[in-house]
Amino acid sequence: MLISSCFFCWTSGPLGTRVEAGSRACGIRDEEVCAMQSRRIGDVPVSAIGLGGMPMSIEGRPDEERSIRTIHAALDAGITLIDTADAYHLHADEVGHNESLIARALATYGGDTSNVLVATKGGHLRPGDGTWTINGSRDYLKRACEASLKRLGIEAIGLYQHHRPDPKVPYAESLGAVRDLLDAGKIRMAGISNANPEQIRQAQEILGGRLVSVQNQFSPAFRSSEPELELCDQLGIAFLPWSPLGGIGRADQLGGHAAAFTMIAERHGVSPQRVCLAWHLAKSPRVIPIPGASRPETILDSAQAPELNLTTEDLASLD
Ligand SMILES: NC(=O)c1ccc[n+]([C@@H]2O[C@H](COP(=O)([O-])OP(=O)(O)OC[C@H]3O[C@@H](n4cnc5c(N)ncnc54)[C@H](OP(=O)(O)O)[C@@H]3O)[C@@H](O)[C@H]2O)c1
Repeated sequence: MLISSCFFCWTSGPLGTRVEAGSRACGIRDEEVCAMQSRRIGDVPVSAIGLGGMPMSIEGRPDEERSIRTIHAALDAGITLIDTADAYHLHADEVGHNESLIARALATYGGDTSNVLVATKGGHLRPGDGTWTINGSRDYLKRACEASLKRLGIEAIGLYQHHRPDPKVPYAESLGAVRDLLDAGKIRMAGISNANPEQIRQAQEILGGRLVSVQNQFSPAFRSSEPELELCDQLGIAFLPWSPLGGIGRADQLGGHAAAFTMIAERHGVSPQRVCLAWHLAKSPRVIPIPGASRPETILDSAQAPELNLTTEDLASLD
């Protein structure tokens, strides 16, 4: 049986059910704790592991019933951060497939979802031929945000991330649009993605110090975002590694770096992917990995990463 523990006193119960109020050795009431360790994006506490929605909406996606079960399993496990984007879809006529899916999953969930932060993005497009294109213009980003708001069925987006710098548009114009969205109350918090250190500093300046997150590719196989991670740490900004396990279709091999992770995983009796996520978490308290999932089993496994304590020797050998 999968076990979830109160992280104050380690009283345990079956994963997905809340530890009975009053049954904790520490006496802390159920409503006073998160089911999972939390970290912060801006001033909002979120689970230390998020759910990446992309595998449920692009090539190889499952049917909707399995996707909804996957999102509900994540919520059961205490995940309160879901990452999505308007561009997570396959065909040209279904822009925002993933946002709509998440909205339906939240609406049909039996429990309280008021503490769930849905983080979406704008600035990437999929014309339907399998390619990804970019539009960072001010007008486009404002239209994209309005459309995301409608699909998510909310008045303000919890975290809106500029998806990727557009080489044809000055970064100041794209980030100026994000600033306007913040000022207009259309989005509560602003983040950026696929940005270098210079762009992170520029975004922070344009947003008047209100940049709360950076989402860049980072995994055992792809470590070149180390400078951005370090800068986020210094600035107190959340760093969300994308494709933290090496990406869709490569997660079973951690993008070709499975051997070291498998060795440590065997020692702890857990999956190499869980070790990988614990390795991410150990990098900095600002790191919040967003592993993608299209099956309940995988997100339930990932959700237990915060409970895995890697030793200094483990971390040294993985680095
Ligand atoms: N900002 C950007 O430009 C950008 C780009 C790419 C992705 N992203 C975001 O980052 C998220 C994560 O990246 P990703 O989905 O590309 O790659 P990923 O998280 O590295 O890998 C996803 C795959 O890992 C498998 N998996 C997850 N947890 C596992 C576990 N505990 N054990 C074994 N397998 C496990 C899943 O399998 P199953 O499908 O079988 O569940 C899934 O297909 C995306 O979903 C998306 O939200 C952002």
